[in-house]
Amino acid sequence: MLIDGHGRKVNYLRISLTERCNFRCQYCMPEKPFSWVPKENLLSFEDLFKFVRAAIDEGITKIRLTGGEPTLRADLDRFIQMICDYKPDIDLAMTTNGYLLAPIAKQLKEAGLKRLNISLDSLRPEVAAKIAGKDVLANVLKGIEAALEAGLKVKINMVPLKGLNDNEIVDILEYCKDRGMQVRFIEYMENVHAHSDLEGMHGKEILERIKRRYTIHKIGRQGSSPAFLYQLEDGYTFGLIDPHKHDFCESCNRIRLTAEGYLIPCLYFDEAMSIKEAVQKGDIDEAVRILRLVLANKPKENRWSEETSEASSRAFYETGG
Ligand code: 5AD
Ligand code: SF4
Repeated sequence: MLIDGHGRKVNYLRISLTERCNFRCQYCMPEKPFSWVPKENLLSFEDLFKFVRAAIDEGITKIRLTGGEPTLRADLDRFIQMICDYKPDIDLAMTTNGYLLAPIAKQLKEAGLKRLNISLDSLRPEVAAKIAGKDVLANVLKGIEAALEAGLKVKINMVPLKGLNDNEIVDILEYCKDRGMQVRFIEYMENVHAHSDLEGMHGKEILERIKRRYTIHKIGRQGSSPAFLYQLEDGYTFGLIDPHKHDFCESCNRIRLTAEGYLIPCLYFDEAMSIKEAVQKGDIDEAVRILRLVLANKPKENRWSEETSEASSRAFYETGG
């Protein structure tokens, strides 16, 4: 079992398969980075898998593939298959922008993927284009339909932003409710890579918008999920991810691995250690030692909740959010 320096059990590994992305979301990567990590610096699926296998042996039971945009990695289904062949009952999920999903959704499901989180910030083509930096909506909606058809469990992520999509909170909730998908509204997390004019919405404001139309009941946090759940009168459940709240980090159970092999203990901070050399040499004991060291030094909480806090300098496209 993996336990961090604050006594939290860590059983959830998030793997960013590439920092590259085909979107330029204003809250994440409005400009193309000065240079991408050269492809040869990325860990191969074989090397990543060496670490994944060791991490599973140490107690990881849940894995999420993220990016950048994970569907940009060729033969993604092959990596999914490798993980599922080793541990068929692993809770394996992926976060994607959905743009390239429609043609591969079935393949991913057949390889063993169980769940998908898809970003959907607007149902209006021009607003979606403004947020993502190009005309994306039609493809994303096709991707969502294909994922549902393939039998994947789908959750939708929306980041409400003032003056952009804040008037679509109820529309997106209803779009998801009609299709049996849970929507999670995510508070915008300030970071230095985002567009500087952005103004996010506080969880309270998001809930106010929904309360104008619906009566809602609090359910609470479930397990280690970062989402606080709410329910409408008809039983539909949605989530609010509020990293600005002080109790947000108490049940954090996660560790992140970047495409280059850095282990990152917290989304907010810059700290990281590389397992690349160890896995490339085949020294799995050394990789596990580094994993334990990173966990021992995992910060207690992020700093978005502090009044004086600065925006994080961590790039979400590197860590996968
Ligand atoms: N604030 C909040 N959420 C973010 N995401 C990326 N950047 C940010 C940010 N600055 C989330 C989006 C997207 C997922 C990949 O990461 O919800 O759906
Ligand atoms: Fe790409 Fe996701 Fe970042 Fe948008 S939020 S730029 S889709 S990695």
